[in-house]
Amino acid sequence: MSGGALQTVGPGPGVGGATEVAAGLEAARCRTLALLEPVPEPLLLRQHSELLSPLVWDLAHIANFEDLWLLRALGDAGVGAGYDGLYDAFLHPRRTRGGLAMLDLAAARGYGDRVRERVLDLLHCDGIGGDDDLRAEGLVYAMVVQHEHQHDETLLAALHLLPEGYAGLVAERLAPPSLGTTPAERVVPGGTYAIGTSSDPWAYDNERPAHPVEVAPYAIDAIPVTNAAWADFLAADGYDQRALWSETGWVWRHEAGLQRPLGWEPDGAGGWLRRRFGRLEAVPADEPVQHVCWYEADAFARGAGRRLPTEVEWEVAATCDPATGAKQRHPWGDGPWRPELANLGAARLGPDPVDAHPEGRSPVGCYAMEGDVWEWTSSGFDRWPGTVAFPYEEYSEVFYGGDYKVLRGGSWATDPSVSRGTFRNWDHPIRRHIFAGLRTARDA
Ligand SMILES: [Fe+2]
Repeated sequence: MSGGALQTVGPGPGVGGATEVAAGLEAARCRTLALLEPVPEPLLLRQHSELLSPLVWDLAHIANFEDLWLLRALGDAGVGAGYDGLYDAFLHPRRTRGGLAMLDLAAARGYGDRVRERVLDLLHCDGIGGDDDLRAEGLVYAMVVQHEHQHDETLLAALHLLPEGYAGLVAERLAPPSLGTTPAERVVPGGTYAIGTSSDPWAYDNERPAHPVEVAPYAIDAIPVTNAAWADFLAADGYDQRALWSETGWVWRHEAGLQRPLGWEPDGAGGWLRRRFGRLEAVPADEPVQHVCWYEADAFARGAGRRLPTEVEWEVAATCDPATGAKQRHPWGDGPWRPELANLGAARLGPDPVDAHPEGRSPVGCYAMEGDVWEWTSSGFDRWPGTVAFPYEEYSEVFYGGDYKVLRGGSWATDPSVSRGTFRNWDHPIRRHIFAGLRTARDA
């Protein structure tokens, strides 16, 4: 948008009172336990990948985080201070957690139950009360609800890698059909746009504050890159064309033996199969590609004669209306999520066809900007101007400026409470176990 006052995103949905907070906490716990329920305990205790914790470690860590923030940080004695060392994510890198003397499943569940019972007692007696910064607008409750859902997405990433399938972990694939459209790229006019938010009670510190950013005109794909497009990249030997890869990407492509997205295998007839949740299935042509690392995404974009969008370009295309200057919380507007708008919440345990949610298009006409797959951007993870770390300093502070690339938009495994147009995710450029794909862009 050019000229006129800069509009920023509205306050968004409030966190609500004690009843809503209790319901949000309960919904998160139901989801956690439902994900773990089909899996035999020995597999829950095992380290499946050096990138992911044993699933039972996550379960007790979720309880410990709630103990720290909804009990002890709010003045209560808490119920499990003795576990702080064991479940501190910064003391124990993921690859080492399998060797820890962890609580078993029953003990981890018991710890979670004891914490939750005390939290609900306090909510019942005091409400979300208190006018301290932690409780203002329910901020600390929003943080704990989101923390559990974010770990649930990590649980899904681990379950995705299990060698065997379990009933309950493979959903009936009743995805909405592709509409058969292949929308062209969208051109976004240059101007000054509002990035971030100052008023959304669900927003983490790294999304704050809202601030103006000058953006040059650009064009961005209306849909994420599909599996069909990735198969074309493979057919054109994209993984072997040195010119498409950055220097570090080329080194990593050889070191790691990258040849195709994680989980893909040839079907013997020129097509592709993929392994997920212990099952082998045909790769659906019209879904967004997932399980590619940043280096692969960067090479694909170059192969298409394009580039990855910057993080700011991604947010503008998802949340800004260049015609009116308005900024929205979501691509579809400020209203709450509905299943028709975006594929969030793991209802179908996989992505939908890229054009399956036309109602959820952004003001500039981009599809699937929330849900389906996280999208790699060209940007490193840096502090927005004016960000003040609060309340959980380790959430972002220690990662700014590191070897990370920003991902935007949430995935099919992301809970709606964690999905909004300003949400920022980041990971190392070599990571492929997350549900990440891309869309491409170019200068206009
Ligand atoms: Fe955590």
